[in-house]
Amino acid sequence: MTRLHKVIIVLCCMILSSCTNPDNEKPIDNNKLNQSLSKGFQLLEQNCFSCHNPNALGETKVAPTIAAVKKQYMEGKVSENEFTKQLIIFMNSPSEAASKMKEAIKKFGLMPKMNLSDEQIENIAKYLYNNNIENPDWFSKYYALEKTKHGTFPKGLTPVEQGLQFALQTKAVLGRNLLNAINTKETENALEFCSLKAIELTDSMSLALNVKIKRVSDKNRNLSNAANEEELKYIIAAKDLLSKNQKLIPRITEINGRWVAYYPILIDRMCLQCHGQKNADIKPKTLNMIKKHYPNDKAFGYKENDIRGIWVVDMKK
Ligand code: HEC
Ligand code: HEC
Repeated sequence: MTRLHKVIIVLCCMILSSCTNPDNEKPIDNNKLNQSLSKGFQLLEQNCFSCHNPNALGETKVAPTIAAVKKQYMEGKVSENEFTKQLIIFMNSPSEAASKMKEAIKKFGLMPKMNLSDEQIENIAKYLYNNNIENPDWFSKYYALEKTKHGTFPKGLTPVEQGLQFALQTKAVLGRNLLNAINTKETENALEFCSLKAIELTDSMSLALNVKIKRVSDKNRNLSNAANEEELKYIIAAKDLLSKNQKLIPRITEINGRWVAYYPILIDRMCLQCHGQKNADIKPKTLNMIKKHYPNDKAFGYKENDIRGIWVVDMKK
């Protein structure tokens, strides 16, 4: 046999073996895994990194780094299932009782609730568990690559899902500003930080869809955040559903060739210091400031899980 023959035989074997690969299922599984990792990364990017610095060596102004959170949840070499379960428990109702990081609560205050589905939290858990995000080098070496590989906005969403992503993204930035202001100043000086004025989404997706976001309420604090007739109808219907313990559903309508979507905003514990009971949850000093800036304020007297208002997300079709 000549050398060429040998090479040809080896090549044929390689081609044949790859065609008859008994592991035919594998590429499909990998696909699923990759999709899940991509979703996990995108969710972290949009909803978590604004507070949890992805750089393990970076600063922790409003919350521990994501590396520190992962380390704490990995304590005792937990399995992926256990890791996921623990994450779901905390995310579904952040509380001191469910916390593994009580020192962080003392330092930064309790995390506001993020309203993600269990499936979304599972994707986040999968990404965190299977990536070396706790490595001090991860940020400088991989973060930019991961953004290119996974993208930063999920693909193939319906308009109503898309709008929700934008609302949650805004909520994460707003939450960071609020926590930052409350932790570094007194609450009464933090008032301006519950305003959306300074928040603009600048990722390519929101720019492409020319997204406009506002929050309105039936009991508004700022005069310009009063709900209009259509929005009020939705808020009243949502309150009715909530009182019957039924699931709240977002609404989307087409107005002048654009999608306009409504999503409920619920009160969590962190909101009470400015929207709760006067003189019980809201400190007198804060109350005085609110009265001074918003003489027609109606946005108080709330309890946890009450409907505070709605997000109105307006997007190009
Ligand atoms: C508005 C800021 C903010 C955003 C956004 C945020 N977090 Fe947090 N998170 C915090 C703060 C503050 C703490 C520390 C206090 C605490 O543990 O509640 C924390 C703690 C945690 C903890 C540890 C909880 C414990 O005490 O055991 C986990 C897990 C966590 N965050 C996951 C996430 C995930 C996942 C996301 C994105 C979906 C996210 N966080 C988004 C502020 C935020
Ligand atoms: C530090 C005080 C403070 C905290 C904490 C706070 N808010 Fe506010 N909130 C305000 C102020 C002040 C305004 C008026 C902002 C403006 O002028 O646009 C406001 C406005 C709003 C609005 C717009 C409608 C309106 O009444 O003008 C919504 C919705 C809202 N807050 C929801 C929340 C939720 C939900 C939380 C908790 C996650 C929260 N706020 C936490 C002070 C606060």
